Amino acid sequence: MTDTKTIEFSATTKALVDRILKRYPEGRQKSALLPLLHLAQAEFGGWLSVPTMDYVASVLNIKPIEVYEVASFYTMYNLNPVGKCLIEVCRTGPCMLRGANDIIEHIENKLGIKEGETTADGKFTLKTVECLGSCGTAPMLQCGADYYENLTNEKVDKLIEKWNSINDHSTYMRSNRVEL
Ligand code: FES
Repeated sequence: MTDTKTIEFSATTKALVDRILKRYPEGRQKSALLPLLHLAQAEFGGWLSVPTMDYVASVLNIKPIEVYEVASFYTMYNLNPVGKCLIEVCRTGPCMLRGANDIIEHIENKLGIKEGETTADGKFTLKTVECLGSCGTAPMLQCGADYYENLTNEKVDKLIEKWNSINDHSTYMRSNRVEL
C-alpha cells in the first residue's frame, strides 16, 4: 500500500462522500466505491494513480486490491494520465458496422497519435471503449459529459477544431460525470 498522506479530498468532496456513504447500511460502505472513484478521478487530475486508489481504499476501509480490481475493470476509469480532452470512441459491433474504425483512424491521423495515446501538448487523449448505449446513432464518441453521434470525418474535424479553441477544458473531462 502506498503512503496516502499527501492525497486527501477537499472539504467539499468530503461532504459529498459523507452523503454518498449514508446511502448504504453500516458495513456496506464498499458499495460506494464507484461514485467515490468518480470523485477521486475528478479531483485528482482526471485519472486514478495507485496512491489515489489507496486513498479511496482507506476512506472506505477496504483493501487496496478491492479498489484496483474495480478501477481496472471499467473503461470509465483512467489508470494513466489523460489529456484535457478525453475522446472516447465506441468500438462495439453496431458502431463498427457504421464506420467506427474509419472514425478512429481519422482521429489518429488528425491528432498524430494512436489509440491510447495523448498528444504532446497534453490536450487530447484518444481512447476506444465498449458500447456507450447510443447504438441507434452510431458511430459515436463521448467527450466529457457529452455524446456526439452519427459521426462523419467532417463532424469530427469540426469537433476537434472546437475543442482546440477552448482554453478551459474542465467541462470536457469525463470525470465531471459524477451524478450525486
Ligand atoms: S455499439 Fe456503439 S454505442 Fe452501442
